[in-house]
Amino acid sequence: MRIAFGNDHAGFDQKAELVEYLKSLGHEVTDYGTDSSDRVDYPDYAFKVGEAVAAGDQDFGILVCGTGIGMSIAANKVRGIRAANVTMPDVAPFARAHNNANVLTLSARYVDVDTNKLIIKKFLETEFEGGRHEGRVNKINALDEERR
Ligand code: RB5
Repeated sequence: MRIAFGNDHAGFDQKAELVEYLKSLGHEVTDYGTDSSDRVDYPDYAFKVGEAVAAGDQDFGILVCGTGIGMSIAANKVRGIRAANVTMPDVAPFARAHNNANVLTLSARYVDVDTNKLIIKKFLETEFEGGRHEGRVNKINALDEERR
């Protein structure tokens, strides 16, 4: 799959290993920055990745910051984005199966890199279940349309 990857300075520590991991799973990764630990503003990267996914240029986005929270708040401002902040592997499949999340946000300061790899794997290998979840996700999507 085509994966848009973005991070801020706090996420930079895990970036190289996570990008390599994604490639080892056979994904095509596009790096939207940042490329150093110099302080930056996470919304800049969340918006770039979110817009690439919303435009259909990328299949999924992965964003890493200190907690994953700022990235998820910012990415969810992009129309068409359903970003999920996941810090526990067991929860990762639900972000896809129930919420049809198209962006995954991760914490580099509170979750170790191996746990984040597992979260990524479980997220990307899970399909949206549809069914009773479809109507709920459609209600979220409808808000995007109303506010255009
Ligand atoms: C940066 O210090 C930190 O605020 C950021 O990485 C992120 O955790 C925000 O939610």
